[in-house]
Amino acid sequence: MKGLKLGIVGFCLLLSNSALCGDIDAGEARYAQNCGNCHGPAGMGLASYPKLKGKEIPYLIDRLNTYRAGTKIGPNSDLMIMMAQPLSDVEIANLAAYLNAQK
Ligand code: HEC
Repeated sequence: MKGLKLGIVGFCLLLSNSALCGDIDAGEARYAQNCGNCHGPAGMGLASYPKLKGKEIPYLIDRLNTYRAGTKIGPNSDLMIMMAQPLSDVEIANLAAYLNAQK
């Protein structure tokens, strides 16, 4: 797993902005559009809305892809499915990079 991650980072250095390698600043701008209304500033979590900051990039991408496909995960997935459906692969990669980078 560690080797794979390092491999992806190296790949990203060569091909910056590919769909695998998120752009943190673009992710922040996208997050500010509406994600923070539920998940709080910088993904810190708010009431029953899950904390997102610091989670692993592959985990965040997998969750967003799952919601985008219309698949439920938890009891309130309907809310997230609506939010994830308009996201592109690049937006998902950017959001994951941004959220992962928040401490
Ligand atoms: C209307 C409120 C709302 C908005 C807006 C919203 N979310 Fe969510 N989000 C939720 C809820 C509720 C869940 C938990 C859903 C469930 O039960 O499966 C969730 C879950 C998630 C998860 C999975 C967390 C985990 O660890 O399981 C991610 C990642 C996520 N949201 C990212 C985003 C992003 C990125 C945006 C902006 C594009 C966004 N959310 C906008 C309400 C929202």
